[in-house]
Amino acid sequence: MTIRPILCVFASLAAVGAASFAVAEAHDPVALREAKMTTVGQSTQIVGDMLRGNTPFDAAAANAALVAMRDAAQGFGELFPEGTELAGSNKDAAAPAIWENRADFDAEIAKFDAALEAAVAAEPQDMEALAAAFGPVGQGCRSCHQNYRVER
Ligand code: HEC
Repeated sequence: MTIRPILCVFASLAAVGAASFAVAEAHDPVALREAKMTTVGQSTQIVGDMLRGNTPFDAAAANAALVAMRDAAQGFGELFPEGTELAGSNKDAAAPAIWENRADFDAEIAKFDAALEAAVAAEPQDMEALAAAFGPVGQGCRSCHQNYRVER
């Protein structure tokens, strides 16, 4: 594993949301891909809380979360250079299988991007529409994580 400059370690630890993208991007694809996933996770939480009835349905907040996810997912596939399997400072990491099945991993990404694009375009205005729009997005998380993310 390459030794990353100390500033990048801080960027990685502080990788919460869009604000850290610029800092992370300049240095470190691992920190950036983790930051993107963190944003995707936070937005999923917002949508999931609404779908489970934990928070009241809010069309503007739901649509903003879908847009944030769609935007964060852009360029995700470019952040997996050779030699960065199992890298990073978090409790999960990119599985070596990504580099063994690159075409399939890229297909997962394309499917996920398409699901997000469709969800944003649907502009759901009620719970039912949100559930329908988010379904394929949630399936995308599960099927990609199952094969290409390892917990540790
Ligand atoms: C195309 C594959 C793929 C899809 C789709 C995907 N993820 Fe991930 N996700 C990953 C990989 C790979 C990692 C591990 C990245 C790393 O640590 O280098 C990850 C890590 C994460 C993390 C941990 C971030 C961190 O700080 O390390 C969260 C949270 C997460 N994903 C949430 C989601 C959610 C929620 C969805 C669906 C809305 C989703 N992901 C869709 C591949 C994917």
